[in-house]
Amino acid sequence: MIDELKKEIEGVKHSFLKEIEQLQSPENFSALKERYLSRKKGVISSLLLRLKEFAPAEKPQAGQAINVFKAFIETTLAGVEEKLTGSRGGAETWHDHSLPASALPIGRFHLIASIKQQIEDLFLNLGYEIALGPEVELADFNFTKLNIPEHHPARDEQDTFFLEGHDELLLRTHTSPMQVRYMLAHKPPFKIISPGKAFRKDDPDATHSPCFHQVEGLLVDRGIHFSHLKGTLEAFCRSFYGPDIVLRFRPGYFPFTEPSAEVDISCFLCSGGRSDCRICKGSGWLEILGSGMVHPQVLRNCGIDPDEYSGFAFGMGIERVAMVKYGVPDLRLLYENDLRLLGQFG
Ligand code: PHE
Repeated sequence: MIDELKKEIEGVKHSFLKEIEQLQSPENFSALKERYLSRKKGVISSLLLRLKEFAPAEKPQAGQAINVFKAFIETTLAGVEEKLTGSRGGAETWHDHSLPASALPIGRFHLIASIKQQIEDLFLNLGYEIALGPEVELADFNFTKLNIPEHHPARDEQDTFFLEGHDELLLRTHTSPMQVRYMLAHKPPFKIISPGKAFRKDDPDATHSPCFHQVEGLLVDRGIHFSHLKGTLEAFCRSFYGPDIVLRFRPGYFPFTEPSAEVDISCFLCSGGRSDCRICKGSGWLEILGSGMVHPQVLRNCGIDPDEYSGFAFGMGIERVAMVKYGVPDLRLLYENDLRLLGQFG
């Protein structure tokens, strides 16, 4: 039985190869393919139908022989098809190699990278230096030196990821530990911004992500007071969001600044005039950053005498800026790498 089948397969193979040899056009190719591979009436299907005639002991061998033959037909046909479509029409189609190539899509900066650069450029123009810190940070720099002692409730607000087996090593919850690093290593005066990733144990939703981006700012010198902070943030916001922006400072709390302020800007789209504004939702204000005067204890912790020096600090989330400035409704969109969205920016 098996031998008969093998003989038959050989015969079919022979005529298949002959047909291939004589093949003229793509139209004939389709018919040929249909004849061999059609699921209903194809040659292979009818061979497979005959499997039931075989005794159980022979069935596996018969099935294998047919399947090997099927694979042979398929690969041969795929090769022929490629040749046919590649050289279809022969001399009629020709390529003008002097034509300009079709345009390749041009890459762009991701919106987060581009906002980071815009912020960096503005502060570089104000004479700031860029200082980068590590993402894996000491708990001492992330919390303790920033006036957030162990067991202080403010640590709960910034729950994060610790490195296994290292209680003192964590993924930084903000870019503020860079303040500590810079102050420990430099004598005032200085002014820096520090952009980078920050991490918190938050469940992702439209406004939270366990990994996000911030830009930190720090200035320390003699005689620095709150109006310097206000003036700097006003200059930044007006260049970044528009010249007519008004700032609103609301009392806030951060353990490492005193006094602290949350900063809002007037809505650059409707200036508070529209109850259905898609940017400010009718409130007229947009919350954009946290700030304050560096706490004397933080200066002391970092080896700077608060009787001689004072400073201000501020921090903002880059995703938040993207949502506010470009109306991105859900920050998760920024991580999905959908070019329909990312292609609109940068
Ligand atoms: N580090 C603060 C946060 O992540 C922001 C901040 C920075 C506030 C500097 C004040 C001064 O929420």
